[in-house]
Amino acid sequence: MNEIVLTGDRPTGKLHIGHYVGSLVTRLKMQEEYSDNLIFIADLQALTDNFDNPQKVRANTIEVALDWLAVGLKPERNIFFIQSLVPELAELTVLYMNLVSLARLQRNPTVKTEMKQKEYGATVPIGFLAYPVSQAADITAFKSTIVPVGEDQLPMIEQTNEIVRRFNNIYNCDILVECRGLLSKTVRLPGTDGNEKMGKSLNNAIYLSDDEQTIKEKIKKMYTDPNHIRVSDPGKVEGNPVFTYLDAFDADKEKLEELKAHYRRGGLGDVMLKNRLNDIMQGTLEPIRERRREYEKDKGEVLNLLLSGSNKAREIAANTLDEVKSAMMLKY
Ligand code: TRP
Repeated sequence: MNEIVLTGDRPTGKLHIGHYVGSLVTRLKMQEEYSDNLIFIADLQALTDNFDNPQKVRANTIEVALDWLAVGLKPERNIFFIQSLVPELAELTVLYMNLVSLARLQRNPTVKTEMKQKEYGATVPIGFLAYPVSQAADITAFKSTIVPVGEDQLPMIEQTNEIVRRFNNIYNCDILVECRGLLSKTVRLPGTDGNEKMGKSLNNAIYLSDDEQTIKEKIKKMYTDPNHIRVSDPGKVEGNPVFTYLDAFDADKEKLEELKAHYRRGGLGDVMLKNRLNDIMQGTLEPIRERRREYEKDKGEVLNLLLSGSNKAREIAANTLDEVKSAMMLKY
């Protein structure tokens, strides 16, 4: 079977090392393994909770695309596109809305959590509440079969497949295709402050675009085991973000196990450990930063890439929309 791989990013900030070890590394693997890869900027979805701050979404569209190119995602191997430049997605969303109830959206665990976090209650913008439907349109428009996601996105996959089954059942066809979510195996990186989430608003992220000095300072200030005061004290490895980062970035696993044992015993200082982490992270991030600098010289070219990708994406989405409209007797 020919697999079609689709992933998307909301352009609400530059991408950080948490994105790197999660979705970006997975996409790098996908582009080697599969020939039909689509990656898109979910600008419409970003607007559902940033409609009052469109300049943020607009500015980050190019930043996120720069991050993709910087890590080595190739235009020859992926269709890069912008969600809002494929209006067929919006049309599909309207059609699918008939197949989804308010109660079902309110039950979506990810929506539920976000609703609480944002304290929306009944004032929730409809666009936000319904974003899983728009996400189902993103996925089904390209007949995607593999959707690499983080754990929090699994409810979206489930809801998409429900729409697919309902649609095919009601209109007695097999136009829409079910997909499977592919969980990236890597651990979730905590913030440099030890918070379990890394993010812009928490001011605890290391960005792919950070310069050498910034990274060095962020690592120097990283949270470790607060009870590890003197070098000779025994330290905790679990829940210590320096070790979590080393787990993700240090290729020398044998050496890492030795360091962990040493740290637990006592006698291994945080400064030494952080220096090692810094060397390793700089080694990973330097080539990424270099490539980013090259692409940054011509942002117009990056935008062109997104524009031409969006045209290709439109052609595919238009075919699906055509079939969907036929099934719903909307062809006049
Ligand atoms: N919700 C995803 C995120 O926040 C972005 C997204 C929108 C997406 N549509 C998608 C991801 C379709 C995969 C498939 O990261």
